Amino acid sequence: MADQPLPRRRVLAGLAALPLGAALARLRPAGAAGDGGLPPTPACGDGPTPDQTEGPYWTPNSPERSDFSGDGVPGERMTLTGAVVDTDCRPVPGTLLDFWQCDGNGVYDNNGYKLRGHFFTDDGGRFRLSTVKPGLYPGRTRHFHVKVRRPGGEVLTTQLYFPGEPANRTDSIYRPELEMTVADNGDASFTFVV
Ligand SMILES: [Fe+2]
Repeated sequence: MADQPLPRRRVLAGLAALPLGAALARLRPAGAAGDGGLPPTPACGDGPTPDQTEGPYWTPNSPERSDFSGDGVPGERMTLTGAVVDTDCRPVPGTLLDFWQCDGNGVYDNNGYKLRGHFFTDDGGRFRLSTVKPGLYPGRTRHFHVKVRRPGGEVLTTQLYFPGEPANRTDSIYRPELEMTVADNGDASFTFVV
């Protein structure tokens, strides 16, 4: 067992050798500082992004596209940008991201592919999705669903949340580590660690 690589321990040991400022800079992407005392968006130093239940509404074989905003559904337009990195903070190009969500009225399209699609991270491990802000439906706080699969890796199924939502306090699935960073204009960002 002693010969087994321990990526997380190696990351932490590496961080310990850095001056504090440099170590913090590696742990937190720019602009990802938390607010209101909540834990910030997880970065590579916090380990892999947690998984979450798929829920009942995933549909296989979504189209390849990263713009849902032309689907003619109700909802406030927004952009979700971000990156996929590994536990050593290196970008992971070519990672599959398969998103699905409800419209602004809390309704999923379970017959077609409105507000569903998959795409891949670019050479820098980055992605950009144009969509609408998901609404609320009974029993859940506001959220996106996503499956993430790095090349040759396993599928991570998880969900992303909005900070400051009243229903975050009553949704038993919600986790603060999965909150996006949301700008004043409503656009959001998140870094997945795989
Ligand atoms: Fe959902």
